[in-house]
Amino acid sequence: MTSEKVEIVKGVYWVGAIDWTLRDFHGLWTPRGGTYNAYLIIDEKITLIDTVAPNFSKELIDRISTIIDPAKIDYLICQHVEPDHSTSYADMLKVAPKAKIITSMRGAEFLEKSYPGVKFPIKIVEDGSSLGLGKRSLTFVQIPMVHWPETMISYMPEEQLVFSNDAFGMQIASPYRYADQIDDWYEPLRAYYSYIVRWNAAAVLKAFKKIEGVPLKIICPSHGPIWRKNIDQITEIYHRWSSSPEKEQAVVVYSTIWKSTKQMAYAIREGIASVGVPADIYNLEEEYLSRAQGAAMEAKAVVVGAMTYNIDPYYPTAAFMPYLKHLRPTSKIGAAFGSYGWGGGATKVLTQQLKDFKFSEVLEPLDVQFRPTEEDLKRCFEYGQEIGRKVKAAFS
Ligand SMILES: Cc1cc2nc3c(=O)[nH]c(=O)nc-3n(C[C@H](O)[C@H](O)[C@H](O)COP(=O)(O)O)c2cc1C
Ligand SMILES: [Fe+2]
Ligand SMILES: [Fe+2]
Repeated sequence: MTSEKVEIVKGVYWVGAIDWTLRDFHGLWTPRGGTYNAYLIIDEKITLIDTVAPNFSKELIDRISTIIDPAKIDYLICQHVEPDHSTSYADMLKVAPKAKIITSMRGAEFLEKSYPGVKFPIKIVEDGSSLGLGKRSLTFVQIPMVHWPETMISYMPEEQLVFSNDAFGMQIASPYRYADQIDDWYEPLRAYYSYIVRWNAAAVLKAFKKIEGVPLKIICPSHGPIWRKNIDQITEIYHRWSSSPEKEQAVVVYSTIWKSTKQMAYAIREGIASVGVPADIYNLEEEYLSRAQGAAMEAKAVVVGAMTYNIDPYYPTAAFMPYLKHLRPTSKIGAAFGSYGWGGGATKVLTQQLKDFKFSEVLEPLDVQFRPTEEDLKRCFEYGQEIGRKVKAAFS
């Protein structure tokens, strides 16, 4: 039983579920858990925006029940059919038998294909159409590919409030429901954006164009805290990440078996830092790849290292490369390094991948046979300096 009541504005409640023990959200590292947010609007019509992930229907229904009898719900708004938001519609229909599901045309198609055998009482709404709820209303805005094709958001003009679904979301479980009560939201927001949204950055910019000039006081996303202060700051961050996220910084990532490549990585990192460019470093074998991806998104230079393993980059680095690709790294400097034993191969593969991903500049790779000597480590340091200088030049 739950009794936490969160009234955002009069008659609009957060009724989501908190997943305190979530550590891996389909590959996104979530060391602080996560939430699935749903929102209940009490007006002449009773409306639920989105639902929650598998196994959380009871928490959702319990929260709704502390506010109103779920049987009174008229509308279930389905903004996005991914299972973390749509799994509970079938359970909701059992307790809210008169409710209609409001969704986009593709939302209807996706719901039927995702839950074969379930009969959904669906009403399809057009892009830009409005639904009166009594004193308040909702305007539906389709934002295809942020981050699925059927996605829409719902704007309540009377409160200047938007239910933004996955946009502006992050995975973090917290006793607080508002972002201004949480100090360190930047990294979880960035991780969520880079892992789930950045691939579709162009769609985010299109969505921004669609809502240009619309007054906004409150953003209610489907994950993490609600934004009610500094709305301009958060929309500005999203805009920057969607256009050019790079800052004057670098990241070195690597994987190694016998630590030669690690020695190279640290020497390169020192070289970059020595010219005044902050450089982060990640051992990809020990980290969630999504964590390094978040750092790579904001780095101007991404330096990837791997020992050669059967003519290829060692698995952790090989596995990281699609994460880089999905950042759309077309404004980044790339470089590859690593230790090999005889024929080598890792850095050749990595360098070609950086080129294929359309890095704006790719350096010649740096190889060391077996254990780096002092002379080799000096070369690594200088390689880092060269990368650092290129980063500096890009910002001057
Ligand atoms: C399972 C395995 C496969 C390897 N395959 C190759 C190879 O195909 N070509 C090559 O040049 N070196 C190969 N090596 C040698 C390593 O690349 C070499 O020992 C390197 O110095 C290891 O770097 P590290 O200390 O960063 O792990 C292989 C080593 C291991 C353990
Ligand atoms: Fe999603
Ligand atoms: Fe989601």
